Amino acid sequence: MRMYDLIEKKKQGGTLSRQEIHDMVRGFVDGDIPDYQMAAMLMAIYFRGMEREETLGLTLEMAASGDMVDLSAIEGIKVDKHSTGGVGDKTTLVIGPLAACLGVKVAKMSGRGLGHTGGTIDKMESIPGLRTAIGRERFFEIVNETGIAVIGQSGNMVPADKKLYALRDVTATVDSIPLIASSIMSKKIAAGSDGIVLDVKTGSGAFMKSLEDSIALAKEMVAIGTGAKRRCCALITDMDVPLGSAIGNSLEVMEAIETLQGHGPEDLTEVCLQLCAQMLSMAGKGSADACYAMAREAMADKRGLKTLAAMVKAQGGDESYILNPDKFSRAPFLCEVRAETEGRIVHIDAAGCGIASAMLGAGRQKKEDAIDHCAGIRLNKKYGDEVKKGDVIGTLYASKKELFEEASKKLLSAYTIAEKRDKALEEKKLIYARVTKDGVERM
Ligand code: URA
Repeated sequence: MRMYDLIEKKKQGGTLSRQEIHDMVRGFVDGDIPDYQMAAMLMAIYFRGMEREETLGLTLEMAASGDMVDLSAIEGIKVDKHSTGGVGDKTTLVIGPLAACLGVKVAKMSGRGLGHTGGTIDKMESIPGLRTAIGRERFFEIVNETGIAVIGQSGNMVPADKKLYALRDVTATVDSIPLIASSIMSKKIAAGSDGIVLDVKTGSGAFMKSLEDSIALAKEMVAIGTGAKRRCCALITDMDVPLGSAIGNSLEVMEAIETLQGHGPEDLTEVCLQLCAQMLSMAGKGSADACYAMAREAMADKRGLKTLAAMVKAQGGDESYILNPDKFSRAPFLCEVRAETEGRIVHIDAAGCGIASAMLGAGRQKKEDAIDHCAGIRLNKKYGDEVKKGDVIGTLYASKKELFEEASKKLLSAYTIAEKRDKALEEKKLIYARVTKDGVERM
């Protein structure tokens, strides 16, 4: 195989064979194919796209480029959940324990935040003592004992994605459906679960800004999951405005706990229950409606909360923080951001809120940056709320007062307040569609 020929083939709109994809992925991981040739290939894929079979082949070759996790030491059906990322998305911390307490095994590997989006591992590390770097055997033991463990990616998993993602990031080739789908699904397939529930975000804070693009991405990922012999479905959920009210690591853990106590924000609660119902149903626990009711009950009687506490304890964390979240340390400084006009909130730009939170220290620009677990934002006013001039719309938390000036401007500019109180609000859905191997069901 000559990489030059493969680039030429893709440039002309040709279809790469499985053998060609295998040789290309292997050659790139081994260092035989230089970055400049792979960059040219990525751009050719960006413009020419890939056939379904090609995207499946690329995903499977990427998944097999490093360690594949064998979860057979864990009893029962293992179901993973993946969200395509967003602002204020603490769903894993709610859904995972809820699904686990109802008999689904959740052996989950999560990531860290980058740019304006958060990551579950950063959020979990705001719980004192909790470890997310845990060896395979202990990981399996914890899942068998408590039903769930959430750890960081370890070992040499999907090295092809690490190298490809870094290259896509600097060659403007991130936003390509076959490349996003193969990147996400290669990690999910290597992680070894029997089923995968995808939460594909749509809107201003998501990778995919339009509903049609989000559905196209979901269809591609579900086809890959099915082609890889996994149970797989996706919900398309809203990320036009932030999910819940808390943005930032310990603030989000506290909000996840409130939700498991049954009094979390309505939007977050609903998205979590719907996703959890998909996980339960995928594991054979009943119809989606019956599973939704089971999840709501486990929230009401706090079984999910107890499972989260058990997981935290098993991972070395102090579970008293879960049972008494007032123990979380607070940022030393806060700053209230006030509305400058009167009216109704008709939009809250999710990406803008994420950037403001990162400016306060809750996020990182580079992988090596340290983060401040107490920093972040609480949105006091949400989509559709009426405000008067001077009302507090958001509260910023930080360890340094000088971070407030820029971050408060950023948060203020993320809010759109319509001057007329009677301006018709667009009805905002939380769940737009469900995508399965059999098709798209719009909600
Ligand atoms: N998340 C990933 O892991 N990969 C992408 O390409 C996009 C989002």
